Amino acid sequence: MNTNFYDEPRDGSASLLHNVVYCSRAAPGVTAQDIDAIIATARRHNAARGITGLLVFGSDIFFQWLEGPKSNVVELMERIHRDTRHNTVVELSVNEEVRERVFPTWDMELVQLDDIREVLQDALRDAQAAVNAKALRQLLQRIDQADLT
Ligand SMILES: Cc1cc2nc3c(=O)[nH]c(=O)nc-3n(C[C@H](O)[C@H](O)[C@H](O)COP(=O)(O)O)c2cc1C
Repeated sequence: MNTNFYDEPRDGSASLLHNVVYCSRAAPGVTAQDIDAIIATARRHNAARGITGLLVFGSDIFFQWLEGPKSNVVELMERIHRDTRHNTVVELSVNEEVRERVFPTWDMELVQLDDIREVLQDALRDAQAAVNAKALRQLLQRIDQADLT
């Protein structure tokens, strides 16, 4: 975690933000070390590109929330689509609006399955923008449907 607030104006007002939420299936043989490597790369790359968000992994399924400047998030999604450590990438929500980040201090936080509902419920309580609340509700619903253990 860090305390950067990236591209947000200093007066605390919101800026144009691109948000992608997707789920995918881990490739056979992906290990805890692979997840650690993904997070380490993500923190390094994302910090330099003003991207924040979270990654959930469980039952061989990934969920990821990405938010940041559009060109950087789109470029990252292209890399993520090509990554052979997972497949069947399904975008659950894509939106762009002037608003504040939901996870402004997380370069990329690995959230445990046991904690994800609480994290999302907290974010939902704080969500100012309707579009954020909608994407958070969609993600919560998908995680419940996936019946992760
Ligand atoms: C589920 C998943 C999530 C990922 N999330 C990120 C991320 O948030 N940021 C990032 O830079 N790379 C992420 N990666 C890794 C990228 O796919 C890619 O390997 C990495 O950006 C390095 O790209 P490069 O080898 O072209 O430099 C993720 C990979 C997977 C499988």
